[in-house]
Amino acid sequence: MTAEVDLAARAAWLRQAISAHDEAYYGRDAPRISDAAYDDLLRELQAIEAAEPALRTADSPTGRVGGSAVTAFKPLRHGRPMLSLSNAFTAADFNDFDRRVRERLGENEILYVAETKLDGLAINLTYVDGFLRSAATRGDGTTGEDVTANIRTIGAVAWRLRTPHPPSLLEIRGEVYLSHSGFKALNAAQLAAGAKLFANPRNAAAGSLRQLDPEITRRRPLNIYCYGIGALEGAERPASQQLLLAWLGTLGCRVSPETRCVQGAAAALACYRAIGARRAQLDYDIDGVVFKVDRLDWQASLGQVARAPRWAVAFKFPPEERETWVLAIDVQVGRTGTLTPVARLEPVFVGGVTVTNATLHNADEIARKDVRVGDRVLVRRAGDVIPEIVGVVLAQRPPDTQPYVMPAAIADQAVNQSVQGLLHFASRRAMDIEGLGDKLAQQLVSSGLVQDPADLYALTVEDLRALERSGDKSAGNLHLAIDISRQTTLARLLYALGIPEVGEATARQLTEHFGELQAMVAAPLAALEEVPDVGPVVAANLARFFSDPEKLALLERLRARGVHWPVGAARAVAALPLAGWNIVLTGTLAAFTREEAADRLRALGAKVTGSVSAKTGFVVAGEDAGAKLRKAAELGVPVFDEARLQQLLARPEEVAQWCQMRPLS
Ligand code: IVH
Repeated sequence: MTAEVDLAARAAWLRQAISAHDEAYYGRDAPRISDAAYDDLLRELQAIEAAEPALRTADSPTGRVGGSAVTAFKPLRHGRPMLSLSNAFTAADFNDFDRRVRERLGENEILYVAETKLDGLAINLTYVDGFLRSAATRGDGTTGEDVTANIRTIGAVAWRLRTPHPPSLLEIRGEVYLSHSGFKALNAAQLAAGAKLFANPRNAAAGSLRQLDPEITRRRPLNIYCYGIGALEGAERPASQQLLLAWLGTLGCRVSPETRCVQGAAAALACYRAIGARRAQLDYDIDGVVFKVDRLDWQASLGQVARAPRWAVAFKFPPEERETWVLAIDVQVGRTGTLTPVARLEPVFVGGVTVTNATLHNADEIARKDVRVGDRVLVRRAGDVIPEIVGVVLAQRPPDTQPYVMPAAIADQAVNQSVQGLLHFASRRAMDIEGLGDKLAQQLVSSGLVQDPADLYALTVEDLRALERSGDKSAGNLHLAIDISRQTTLARLLYALGIPEVGEATARQLTEHFGELQAMVAAPLAALEEVPDVGPVVAANLARFFSDPEKLALLERLRARGVHWPVGAARAVAALPLAGWNIVLTGTLAAFTREEAADRLRALGAKVTGSVSAKTGFVVAGEDAGAKLRKAAELGVPVFDEARLQQLLARPEEVAQWCQMRPLS
């Protein structure tokens, strides 16, 4: 077999595969592969056709705009064809585009308008004498589907142009999309109704727009950004893309605020990177930046090739979704007993990095998505988010796969870890819940009453009484102890959460540094590392914890169930009145426990230590103090009783006078 025959067979196969995917994507809104995998097929076919023009057929998908009208909606012919865009995937591709434009125009540098490439559905809105007459999807580029009734339900689409002198005919082109928040809300509603979940906002937008019943579309939070025009009668065409967008804005159309003007290729590349960096913060999906030659007369002289204009290019971002194989599923057991199944993947380049693992979140999620070892899956990595498995490519599931079952030993281990996590949470130096011992923690976890610490705060006395060996009195006491623990300090809570390698001292340093939880959660890695005692490892543990949606949900539930702490402003420790003072507490205090006294002294900047030394500023002695008192006398360290401690807490700035000396540092 010669190489050419091979290529011919490959091209035929690619054509067939691409048509099948087009039909699934456009005809049924049910794509079977990712956009990136589709782009790969199309690019391979383009490359073959470029190398062997004889292999190009009249019906090749490279020569047309994807999509054909489905029959459920009336076909509607566009006044002017809706073009598609050629793609650039690398800076070199973009520079080629720029060079071709400059050569054709005989210019040195081109002014481009940069627009986000929204990942939704192209729509053509036809306004007659200023009123929305019809709306059509792109379809095959010449004829689309009449979705007027559905489009009219979208509040963001102007039903009338905001001008006293509208053009007699104006086609406005835009993209209908669903925001991330809209998508989440829609899927939550679908879940509640037991209806099918959408794989991504684009599919959800497509499915919502192509409802035969507009009342369903009305309930879907669709939105639109407009970026161009088609046919125009009764008004002058604006001279530039910038003016065109501004004009659309004055007419009452939504135009993306993420639009920039750039002069020359270097500035365009910088803009592409800047928009790429902002991508994760946008509340909607974009898959690239569209660069358009600004001047419309230049656009006209450049014209088009096949169905794509020569004056515009879609500079795509590296794909955030890719397909790969699941090699194994492992389960990670967190310190607090949470089970996180992790898929081990055949390495795949996605979102700018090579991904080998992806989270499956939890057992329910695996079951819902029915991810199996051996499956072909769609992996997503957006921004700096942990890679996750979006779904299984069922069409490519090998015949011998089995549904995943969590190994029993791991489930036992998880219960054990949950118990340990709960005991740590309740321990004296953490939330200090008296009476929550080993046996009880076991029972709470294995009965399912407590899955995470926040569940403790929803327990009733009856819940506790129903547990084995728990009498009326002890149930009441424990309930009270849980209630009392609601009032705590941020440092205690942080320590209680069991973040790996975040001990009491680190928790306190963090609290002193940031003052409040929100600041910690929002802190970038570098800011966490500025905290004394926090090195790269601890900072990474903290960052991982604070970016885990489940952990944030836990914090929110703790707060919602009444766990609270005084909020301190982030202060330099040195500014606190007891900064630099080492204090030792000994004996039994009457008005507070030693831990409470220590917390209050620490809140004033003191370091509370366990043993008396020459560095000790003073000792606070309660009843029955012993060895430490003797040691203090030996070293000449001042000793206060509880009454003086109270006075000191009221006027901490007078501490030096109390001791008649400067703090030792
Ligand atoms: S201009 C004449 N601008 O991308 C050029 N398209 O592959 C026609 N799209 O069908 C398109 N954002 O669905 C243009 N700012 C933007 C766009 C955009 C998204 C979509 C649109 C179009 C497809 C082209």
